[in-house]
Formats: sequence, structure tokens, C-alpha cells
Amino acid sequence: MISRRSALTGLLMGGAGLAAAGVLSSRDARHWLFGATAFAASPKPLAIPEIIAGEVRDGVRTYALGLQKGISQFFNGVETPTLGINGAYLGPTLKMRAGELVRMNVTNRIGEPSTLHWHGFHLPASADGGPHQVIADGATWSPQFTVKQRASMFWYHSHMVPRTGPQVYQGLAGLIYVDDDETARLDLPSDYGVDDIPLVLQDRAFDSNGSLIYSTSMPSVMMGMRGNVLLVNGTVRPYFEARTSKLRLRILNGSNARFHTIGFADRRTFQQIGTDGGLLERPFETSRITLAPAERTQIVVDLDDGRPALLRTFATPNTGMMGGGGMMGGMMERMMGDDLSFDVLDIRPGAQRGKSAGLPDRLVSLDRPDPSRAVGTRRFVLQMGMGGMMMGGGSFTINGKAMDMNRIDEAVRVGTTEIWQIENASMMSHPFHIHDVQFRVLDRNGAPPAPGEMGLKDTVVVAPSERVRLLLSFADYSDPDSPYMYHCHILEHEDAGMMGQFLVTA
Ligand code: C2O
Ligand code: CU
Ligand code: CU
Repeated sequence: MISRRSALTGLLMGGAGLAAAGVLSSRDARHWLFGATAFAASPKPLAIPEIIAGEVRDGVRTYALGLQKGISQFFNGVETPTLGINGAYLGPTLKMRAGELVRMNVTNRIGEPSTLHWHGFHLPASADGGPHQVIADGATWSPQFTVKQRASMFWYHSHMVPRTGPQVYQGLAGLIYVDDDETARLDLPSDYGVDDIPLVLQDRAFDSNGSLIYSTSMPSVMMGMRGNVLLVNGTVRPYFEARTSKLRLRILNGSNARFHTIGFADRRTFQQIGTDGGLLERPFETSRITLAPAERTQIVVDLDDGRPALLRTFATPNTGMMGGGGMMGGMMERMMGDDLSFDVLDIRPGAQRGKSAGLPDRLVSLDRPDPSRAVGTRRFVLQMGMGGMMMGGGSFTINGKAMDMNRIDEAVRVGTTEIWQIENASMMSHPFHIHDVQFRVLDRNGAPPAPGEMGLKDTVVVAPSERVRLLLSFADYSDPDSPYMYHCHILEHEDAGMMGQFLVTA
């Protein structure tokens, strides 16, 4: 542990050293790493992404999505070049229903190749929008698939190897709302933009011209790209006027690398009702939830007391034991910017709030995860090679291998259930994501998962020295040629190689 710790410290001190030597103009390496700019941003109403239901043609719900360049105004009078889908930054929320056939007409006009991946979806690998479904600049890609999801919030984003980090950072992401009959019966708040509010959390760094900083320096790749400004649906310092006594918030950690622990400034509790891929069996009362990049949650907060509720984030070390304290831990935390916290949403209960229905005790039913159904266990060991990093290289691997587009790492049989055991042999936490499936967490170092993790998941945090076992079933689709991905969802780690490919075969 000591050697890894000093390697990481050395690396970060390298950044500070550059600053000290005057290579960087900033007096503070922290500003170099996270952005120094503090433009004025007056509080604004929260932007709610437009929700679109596409157009039904011959029984196929069809969406038109255009990846484009744009100019965004995050700060008063400051123009920031960005990327978006059907707009300047981020994309519309796609509304669809379980069981429907959907078709996406995705046109790329960003001036470089890209892809669009349907994160969390169970679909044929050729429709997945991963690194093999490249859309050339000017081209249109039109995958078609059946919505085989439970009701939840999913998302779509660029997956262009090795440019996923910068493309998502500039704005290539959007949300998907899937409904189903089981959930529609529950009478949960579901008036989009009124009492059912999506929140996309993204930290960003800006230079003195107001342009986004995307650094490919060693520390930025290692820590993942972070910033000192939080965008919420592309809004800086948003507020929301509530017209109902209960609000359902669907929250995506859309950051490239930063972990966010959310909660309310007044410490009020709320009900967690969902995880990445669906609702929990029953609401779970809590006051804090940590979301790693790509993880989603759904919460319901009560505004009956009429007091303003400030949703914010709290410092979240993702260096595991290193952030645990002591002088070294504290220093690491500050150097990585893990001590920063952000206001997310200033919720102002309106004077005339409509009464909302109560929350049901039971939400949906989920199978009890049964490991005896598994045909076997596959191990995945996540590693960051610090020695390489110090030399200017750096190696981000799974089972000792960096991503290779021409190598298939694993093959599973369609119709089977497996246990995947993810082990973290590095000193940072990694959010491990698997395409095609919604899985269940069996245990962490042998202990059962927390109640907030007992639902359907497609991304799971694996802390340093942790061993997390997942139960996954590979159903319906097989393809001898098109692989799915598994990877760390810290996008800089993914781009640097912490990704592998698996086939589902007949
Ligand atoms: Cu959110 Cu492989 O992706
Ligand atoms: Cu995905
Ligand atoms: Cu990682």
C-alpha cells in the first residue's frame, strides 16, 4: 500500500512541481487541475430537457437525433462551445414504453466520428452504439430494437474509442425514460418537469475565455477529468419552484470522473425508490446517497413543511482508504478535489402546493438473486499501473490487459446465468459497468449489499481491495461478431484502456 500511495502522491506532486517551476502560470496546481475561473452565474430556473416521444411509423417508435456543435451560455454573457443532441448541450429525454419497438435515426454532424450508446439497455450488440458502431461525420446510423427494460431512467452517450471522455464532457449525453404497466399503477409522482424531475450532475472546468478545459495530462487521466463548477442539466446554480408537496427526483451522475454524495443541507431524510435499472421492492429511507459516474437513483422528497430544501453534494473521497484521514489522506483528498462540495438544486416550495399521493409500501417485485443458478464465476481484476504512469505512459487494465478493439476477451453462452467477481487491485474506486444486462449485487467482500443497492444495476462501485460479486443473466440475443463492452465508467480510465469486450454466443 505504501508504495502505491507514494507513487500517486509523486504523480500529483508532479503537477504542483510544474506549477512551482513556472511551467504553469497558475500559482496553484489545484487550479490547473480543476479550473480557476469563477464567472458570474446568477441563479436560474432549472433547465428541464425537452421530452420527446418520437413518431410512430409502421408500428415503430422513431426518434430523430442529431449530434451537433453548439454554443452554450452557462455564465452571464459568456459563450462556451459545446456539443449536444438536437441542441447546444446534452439532448432530449426520450420517452418510451416497455415492449415497444423503437428506431433511432442518429445523424452525426460534430466534425469527427462518434457513436451513441444506450446505457443500461438489453439489446442486440449491433444496436448497442458501442465503439464498433462508429457513425462517420455526416452519416446516419439507424438501429432498431425492442424495449426490454423495466421502468426506470437510462441514458445515452458517446462511446467513441478513445474519445468518449472529451465527447461526453462537451455534452454528448441525454436521458431515456422507460415506463411500464407495473410502475404506471403505482401512482408515483410522474408529471415530467412538474413533480418528476430529472437531474444530470456534471462537474466541469472552464478556462479564462469560458471554454471547457479538457486535460489529457497524467494527473487528469489518473484522477479522471474533474472541474470546480457543477452543471445540473446544463444549468449553473439552478432553483426549482415546487408546485406539489412531493417531488420525485431522478438523478444521473453524468460526470466523467467525480463521485457525488447527495443529500439535503438541512439533513432531511428522503425515500430512495429506484436504482439504475428499475424500482426497488420497497422505498428505503436515507439522508445520503453516493453515486459514481453513470449510476442513477430515484428519490422522493417531502416538502410538506414548506421550507426551502437545498439539495447539495458532500465531499466524496474516491481514493478509498487513502482518503480515510491523516495528513496524507487529507492532502490527497484536496489535491484530487475530492473535498469539494456543490449546491445542486435550490428547491423552493410554492405557496399553493398540490397535495401528492402517499408512497406505497411496496413498489415492484424483484427476483431474489440466486447464485446457485450460475454456471460459473468469471474474475475481473482492475489495475492501474503506477510505474508506467510515472514514466509518462500509464496502464489501465482489466485482468492485465488494456482494451484492444481487435481482441475478444470473454465469450458467454446465451441463456446462461453467471457470477462476475470484480476485484480492485488499485488505490482508487472504479465504477464497473457491463453492457447488455441489468445485474444484481450478490455481495461485497462477502457481506450483503446495502438496501440502496438491492435493485437492478448496470454500474457498480468497486473500492480498493474490494471484491464484489454480481449475478447476471445473458438472455435473448447472441451474435458471433459484435461484442458488448465492460469497463470502468471513469471515462478517462475507459479511454486509457480499462475496458474489455465480450461476445454472447449461441
Ligand atoms: Cu455508459 Cu459502456 O457505457
Ligand atoms: Cu453502457
Ligand atoms: Cu476507473
